[in-house]
Amino acid sequence: MEEKITKIPTHVSIIMDGNGRWARERGKERVFGHLNGVESVRAVTEESVRLGIKYLSLYTFSEENWSRPESEVGYLMNLMIKSIAGELDNFMRNGVRFLALGNREHLPELVLSAIDGAMEATKDNKNLTLILFLSYSGRWDILQAARRMAEDFASHPGDLAGVDAEAFGRYLVTADIPDPDLIIRTSGEERISNYLLWQGAYSELVFTPVLWPDFREEDYRKALLEYSLRDRRYGKVK
Ligand code: IPE
Ligand code: IPE
Ligand code: MG
Repeated sequence: MEEKITKIPTHVSIIMDGNGRWARERGKERVFGHLNGVESVRAVTEESVRLGIKYLSLYTFSEENWSRPESEVGYLMNLMIKSIAGELDNFMRNGVRFLALGNREHLPELVLSAIDGAMEATKDNKNLTLILFLSYSGRWDILQAARRMAEDFASHPGDLAGVDAEAFGRYLVTADIPDPDLIIRTSGEERISNYLLWQGAYSELVFTPVLWPDFREEDYRKALLEYSLRDRRYGKVK
């Protein structure tokens, strides 16, 4: 029985979870799971290009993740710097435009220069936009948008009455990016964990027990197949 993916989403987003448990199952330190998770990122990125998906975004590090032990945070930041540099050739070969979005104020200088370098180098690539949400949380995004909007309207607050959801969305860090059609979360957890709260209002959700470092093309295709079978109604009746 070969079922077909009949609907290709424009934007797929993944909450990559379960790295620590994957490592623990193998009697290793949690960070070993983060290291192996990089392979899964490469696999889903290349599969997205093959399938013609235009946006792939990955919840890579949340604002809350800063509260993890300093050694794990440090490891993750170093891994980010190394992986971004290591994947650049791949991005160019596959036509991947790289973006990193989140609270830059909390990110170390070396991470900022790695992401800025990769964004500049890949800015003209057209096949897939790969977005890493780094030091990101949904509530932070909504708050920073509200603050910036308040500044813009300070001298003419009466105009706020004309701000609709679309106009507000332009203040979010995802201003130019379509809302995710599908959000996948790995590792069996079934929660949003302060991810794309505004943008995910009508995203389809797929949860899989597979731990992130084990997640490969076939798991991805399975989630996309499930998405193909969903009926998106947006509150309407058919
Ligand atoms: C996801 O894996 C990676 C990050 C959140 C940075 P975890 O590190 O959360 O792994 P578990 O959930 O503890 O297994
Ligand atoms: C969500 O995973 C954040 C990322 C995948 C970056 P967490 O492991 O931090 O989420 P909780 O703590 O299980 O909600
Ligand atoms: Mg986790």
